[in-house]
Amino acid sequence: MKKNQIKTVKGFNEVLPPESFRWRMVEDKFRDLLEGYGFAELRLAMLESTELFARSIGDETDIVEKEMYTFLDRSERSLTLRPEGTASVVRAFNQYSFGKTSEINKLYYVGPMFRYERPQKGRYRQFHQLGAEVFGEASFYQDAETLVMLAQLFHTLSVEGVILHLNSLGCEACRPAFRDQLKSFLLDRQTSLCSDCQRRIQENPLRALDCKNPACREAVVGAPQINESLCDDCRDHFSGLCGLLDDAGLDYQVNSQLVRGLDYYTRTTFEFLAGDLGAQNAVAAGGRYDRLVEELGGKPTPAFGFAIGFERLMMLAGDKLAPLSSPFAALVPLGEAALRRLFPIHVNLNRDAQVTTLSFQQKSLKSQLKKADKDGVMYALIVGPDELSQEIAICRNMRTKEQTQLPLRNLEEALQELYHEC
Ligand code: HAM
Repeated sequence: MKKNQIKTVKGFNEVLPPESFRWRMVEDKFRDLLEGYGFAELRLAMLESTELFARSIGDETDIVEKEMYTFLDRSERSLTLRPEGTASVVRAFNQYSFGKTSEINKLYYVGPMFRYERPQKGRYRQFHQLGAEVFGEASFYQDAETLVMLAQLFHTLSVEGVILHLNSLGCEACRPAFRDQLKSFLLDRQTSLCSDCQRRIQENPLRALDCKNPACREAVVGAPQINESLCDDCRDHFSGLCGLLDDAGLDYQVNSQLVRGLDYYTRTTFEFLAGDLGAQNAVAAGGRYDRLVEELGGKPTPAFGFAIGFERLMMLAGDKLAPLSSPFAALVPLGEAALRRLFPIHVNLNRDAQVTTLSFQQKSLKSQLKKADKDGVMYALIVGPDELSQEIAICRNMRTKEQTQLPLRNLEEALQELYHEC
């Protein structure tokens, strides 16, 4: 790369061809599955008021404290590039009064998110999520349906070895007592904790439970377990969910340390973890957040959702996708008159799918056939001055090298027939 060329900002992941074709295949499967379950797409703003994330994800979280792309615009408003989708979907749910038009709202989104994290394999500063949120359904049946749907997506994509980790974080009735218990446990071990966890003992002691710092991991061994402090309603919700997952044959591990890095969760939290991903092993995550709609100014509305890390999903699914299809035929003109004759055929055939390639440069027969071979086409249709005068095209089967003749007048129809026969 030359010195004066401009590059992407570090950690901003872009998707280039041919990878972008594979992303589209996976995205189409995601859309088909979700729309089958009654979800509709939201295309949301990428820039929001900073306050939205501070109030939803939580002031004391890593995301809000350290990872947001926040800046003042020209009118001195504090704006933030969205670090996740849930807060924006809830903002939209309230802003456009979705709850009024239908009792249950199922919404999905696909797009880039931005977090100032240290870039490494599977972790980027611009990454992409496939996410979904369901509003208005408090039943654990909703949690189960959504989790099974996610497992079905992995199955459809032949992604194996993904394990569902599940926990309940309780509700406003039972969590405060647990927090107090945990706080006093952590205060006794305060000096062993990292500076972030020490600082958060008062406001957000649960974060210490999934802090990755080895000293913190050791310090929380034997900490009180949230699932032993659940109220009856939360316990029933969790055991109801586990029962449905058992019935559906979906394996899971109850993981009482799973508290997640965002503050809005109530009851169910989950992560799908994949050993093949290395250190950044969560391919999808989410849970229930029954209070967030109200906290952001809406009517009390239960909600459940998830987001899949698109880059991580592609690391698991990429190799298993069907190979990309090649164009069907190469139109090989020899001379300007042949090119002119083949051009309308080429554009008509490619209206719905890429059927033909056509070189606009005057290249030799040999080099055009070499390129056709490289592109993996089935047929080359050769037209030179002789063929033009005889109103024919030579149809060369690129595998068998057999050559036949096709009438030029009906070439479009003849190629269409061959294409549909394949
Ligand atoms: P999250 O756990 O922060 O949850 O992110 C969800 C997924 O996004 C992660 O499991 C991971 O696959 C991917 N991801 C997160 N950060 C990065 C990164 N820096 N680089 C690459 N991939 C990343 C949420 O975002 C919640 N909004 C999920 C949710 C939806 N909860 C309820 N509804």
